[in-house]
Amino acid sequence: MLMKLIENIYLIGFMGVGKSATQRALANMTGAPSVDTDELIEEKLGLTISDIFDKYGEDHFRKTETEVLKELTEKSPLIVSCGGGVVKKEENIEILKKGGKVFYLKADPKVILSRVEGRDTRPLLKGHMSVEGINELLLPRIPFYEKAKDFIVRTDDKTPSEVAADIIAILEKNAEN
Ligand code: S3P
Repeated sequence: MLMKLIENIYLIGFMGVGKSATQRALANMTGAPSVDTDELIEEKLGLTISDIFDKYGEDHFRKTETEVLKELTEKSPLIVSCGGGVVKKEENIEILKKGGKVFYLKADPKVILSRVEGRDTRPLLKGHMSVEGINELLLPRIPFYEKAKDFIVRTDDKTPSEVAADIIAILEKNAEN
């Protein structure tokens, strides 16, 4: 099924909820172009996310994240998978809201843990690989995910294609109204 996007589709939510996998599934199912902000940041700085945090710190990562988000508003329409911390800056929330429709992907911390466990690609999860550790980072962010979102989609026991199908159904329903 090909679908014509008229504005960006942003996927937000905590690490491990399935944003990147859903982005790829959505791109396959709709034929729309898609990007992952973490991959663009890695390309821009020529380093992995872990190395960016190690060498330059989180602030520099966040500065680059905002630059990338701004650049993407000029390349619209795209499906954009955002890093889990994108809502930490108010400026980013404004960019998302102006740039298109924002889907907040949500999963239970236990499910998140099962998806991120054993991977060392996410510097902020160091020392937080437990349900308590995830909640410590996740709970303060929830109001900001809520503020940025247009729609919420649960991902707990769904495949990326099922999550993508839910998103497409919401977009189609909204296009009718
Ligand atoms: C982060 C999430 C990561 C990445 C970076 C920081 C966060 O992206 O941007 O490690 O602050 O939640 P994913 O959500 O794609 O893992």
